[in-house]
Amino acid sequence: MNILILSRGSSNYSTQRLKEEAKTRGHDVRVVNYALCYMAVEKGNPVVYYRGKPLTDIDAVIPRIAMRYTKYGTSVVRQFEMQGVYTTDSSIAINRVRDKLRAYQLLAKTDIGIPKTVFARETSDFADVIEHAGGPPLIIKVARGTHGNGVVLAETKKAAQAVMQAFYVEDVSFLVQEFIAESAGTDIRVIVIGGKVIAAMERQSLDNDFRSNLHQGGEGKKVRLTEEERKTAQKAAKAMGLSVCGVDMIRSDHGPLVLEVNASPGFSIEKVTGVNVAAKLIRYVEQSAKRKKIKDRVGA
Ligand SMILES: Nc1ncnc2c1ncn2[C@@H]1O[C@H](COP(=O)(O)OP(=O)(O)O)[C@@H](O)[C@H]1O
Ligand SMILES: [Mg+2]
Repeated sequence: MNILILSRGSSNYSTQRLKEEAKTRGHDVRVVNYALCYMAVEKGNPVVYYRGKPLTDIDAVIPRIAMRYTKYGTSVVRQFEMQGVYTTDSSIAINRVRDKLRAYQLLAKTDIGIPKTVFARETSDFADVIEHAGGPPLIIKVARGTHGNGVVLAETKKAAQAVMQAFYVEDVSFLVQEFIAESAGTDIRVIVIGGKVIAAMERQSLDNDFRSNLHQGGEGKKVRLTEEERKTAQKAAKAMGLSVCGVDMIRSDHGPLVLEVNASPGFSIEKVTGVNVAAKLIRYVEQSAKRKKIKDRVGA
């Protein structure tokens, strides 16, 4: 097959691993920086150009779109979709999970546990928001954050108000969430491919941070999921309409709570679990690319 990996980091571990496994399995594989692609939009002829040449005869696209480039990156993915090219995750689904409010609305509707959450933007009803979220200590996050940046733990009402005020004057959407104290500093990352759980790890912060993101100095270790956690991860992937994703959840004393679903999960989980995630993804592409168009059934 002719496989195209859309990634800005050709030397990035996950991209390297995908390329390596695609080659091992006998495919022609190419890594293209989608930020440098340009698109000709004309009637009946949706072309993507890269370094002056059209990208043609592609059998499958594997999008690895960075948060910061969501809009442009997904428009490149969409241009391939317009050509009828198979993509592991659709442009709609990638966009959907990049917006935490949209994602939480859908998760809640699907009956998946999430921490109690209040969304706001241009409000100065801080006291009211704090009350609706259950009072301090509270987690406050920017609606489009990633890697743990933009996630704050406010231990008092005063601190919570100050943080909200800062977001308010900067005009950013934020969410206020109950702090799940019993999970502080740990979360679980589950890789779901084609509706199946293929790897899971627990991430633990090493420096007493409440955030367990590996980008914040967290460390991963293998974990055995409960049946409920496994089902929750699969349901979350389905609710987002993602075929390939990383579901993040925390263990609370009332069961697993989903924090977010990542459309381009990193592959460092391979080192922690010993699971060959890249090979599993390529195998999934081989099986599902034949079906060509993936239908999005989420409806929001
Ligand atoms: N409500 C919460 N209660 C306890 N810990 C949380 C909560 N929300 C986030 N965290 C911690 O902060 C980390 C980052 O939060 P997350 O919502 O995943 O944002 P990001 O998209 O920046 O990774 C999580 O992995 C978790 O360890
Ligand atoms: Mg996270």
